[in-house]
Parts: sequence; C-alpha cells; structure tokens
Amino acid sequence: MQSMAPIRMLCPMHLPTGWLDRLRSLRQRFLEDDHIGIALPDYWRDDLDLVAYDAIPAARIGWKWDAALAEAADRGLVIPAHATVLDFGCGTGIAARRFLHRFAASEVLCHDRSARARNFAVKRLRGEHPKAKVRAVTNPGADGAEFDVLLVSHVLGELDESGRTALLALARRARVVLWVEPGSRTAARALATVRDTLLGPLHPIAPCPHAGKCPTLANDHDWCHFFAEPPPEVFTTGDWVKAARELGIDLRALPYSFLALATEPTAVAMPLHRLLGRAEVSKFDARRLACSADGLRPCTVTKRAQPELWRRIKKDPGGLRVLPD
Ligand SMILES: C[S@@+](CC[C@H](N)C(=O)[O-])C[C@H]1O[C@@H](n2cnc3c(N)ncnc32)[C@H](O)[C@@H]1O
Repeated sequence: MQSMAPIRMLCPMHLPTGWLDRLRSLRQRFLEDDHIGIALPDYWRDDLDLVAYDAIPAARIGWKWDAALAEAADRGLVIPAHATVLDFGCGTGIAARRFLHRFAASEVLCHDRSARARNFAVKRLRGEHPKAKVRAVTNPGADGAEFDVLLVSHVLGELDESGRTALLALARRARVVLWVEPGSRTAARALATVRDTLLGPLHPIAPCPHAGKCPTLANDHDWCHFFAEPPPEVFTTGDWVKAARELGIDLRALPYSFLALATEPTAVAMPLHRLLGRAEVSKFDARRLACSADGLRPCTVTKRAQPELWRRIKKDPGGLRVLPD
C-alpha cells in the first residue's frame, strides 16, 4: 500500500505491434457501445488485445478509479482490516491495481467470464504489487468465495438482466462496494438504479450527500457524473497524443460515474451538496447542478459577487466537489 498513488505512464514498450488496429477493432466490438441490458459475447481474442486495452483504455479507467477512491477516502471510507477484494469483470485488473495503490488487502480475487482476462489480470497484479496475494476465481457466486470488498468497473453495460441480478446478489454479500462506470447518461443512470436497489443493507459513502433515493432518476435528463483529471504528462507523451488523434479521444475529458457503498455508515459528516457534471461558464456567471438531500438544484456563482470563485470554476468547470459557503 502507498499513501500517494503513483501514476503509471504509458510506455511504448507496453504496446504490441499494431496496437492502434487492435484498439480500433476493440472499439468496434465493445468500447464505443453505450448499450445496457444486452450481454456481449467474449471479445478478448488473445493476450495482445488485453495488452493494447491495458495500455490505453484501462489506463484512462485507472485515473477515474484514482479520483473515485480519493473521494471515497475523503468521505471516510473504511476498508476492513485483512480484506479480501473481489474484482468482478476484472478485464486486465486495473480496478484492483488502483485499489491496492491506495488501500491494503490481504487477498485479491480476479473474476472475469474470460479465462484469458482472469489470467492476464492476475499476472499484471503480481507484476505491479509483488507482495499481494492474488488468484483467479471462475464463479464467485457459486464458488462460495468469501470477500469483503467488491470492485466493479465498466461492466454494467455488458450484463443482461440475469447477469445484473447475479452481480447485485454478490454486492449484497460485500461489506464495501466500489463501482466505477462511464460518465455517459445511460451508464450513470444505470448505476444510480443499482445504488437505489442496494440502499438499506448498504449505505452511500460517496459521491452522494444523502442516503435517500437518487434524485437524478426523478427526471429523464439528469445523470450523476464527474470528470477525472488525467496526469499532465499524457498531453506531451507521443503515444498518448497519437492514440488520442487516431482514436478521436479527447484526452482532457475523463467522464465517469461511481459509487462507494458500505454496510457501516461513514463517520464523516455528509456535505450539504455534491456538484455534478461540469459548470456552464459565461462572461457573467458559472452555473452547475448540485445534488442534495432536497434533490437537484442549479447553483449560480456570479462574477460580480464572487470573482475569485468564478475564475476558479472557469479554469476547471468540473473541478470542485462542493461550493464554499
Ligand atoms: C469493458 S471491460 C472492463 C474491464 C475492467 N473491469 C476495466 O475496468 O478495465 C468488461 C469486462 O467484463 C467482462 N464481463 C462481461 N460480462 C461478464 C459477466 N457476465 N461475468 C463476468 N465478466 C464479464 C468482460 O469479459 C470484460 O473483461
């Protein structure tokens, strides 16, 4: 465990020959889809698919995890001592790797329906965290595998109804659930539905500022999402710049949605609100949606009344979690 998570930069040596074609083809098979409720066939053709995925899409997902875990930690998330952690739908194991950079665990279980992915994730975890005890599990629901912390990352959109029900049953067995999904409207609203389904035995730790139903689901157009910061080096690293250009990725935008839930409520007082999405900034003001126990409400910071704050929001429209009093 380390207190500050080091950033794993893309290294050209990690990239297999033809990595761009690999990523383009993975994109066609699953990366660009924003589908919910349709199970996809196994798409990992060989280890090179996983290497290419791990170097770029998974690295970006890792930065989302860093942001989500930082917020959960600030909100008082407690990981049980000697925790066993299950990474469900682990892919290359990026969620478990980022978890281990911030928290301790006595064992990590990697589960994916793809045996190739499970084995790849175990190897990558052992490489990055040589002291960690890591193993693959084939069927965590039926194996009776005991675990304390459930990690889920970018899987919800690939599950049909029965897969989702099975995953929710696993979540109900966990003491802590940490779940990161894309920041799209579809994915974030699906995650909000998961949250509301799990309320009761599990308490929201982050990002929610209340334990009531998710107010984004009260209408059709809002969704709970945030923007993570990539490390500044991506903007000057040749492979990242090339990948962004060729794949049409906006390197600055890392939209994500997340949930941290636990059987024990947090001892840290909930904030009065949590800002969602990004501010719309004009010459005169900055407007952003805030979630609170009373529901969603737009907040406006005027340049005239709060010039410093307006400038701060203009510089980083998705950056603040809460507005100062
Ligand atoms: C988009 S990838 C995400 C991988 C990894 N969690 C990450 O965030 O980078 C989705 C993963 O979920 C796995 N998956 C899809 N359906 C699954 C299911 N029903 N059970 C277990 N794993 C599943 C896929 O094989 C794939 O590795």
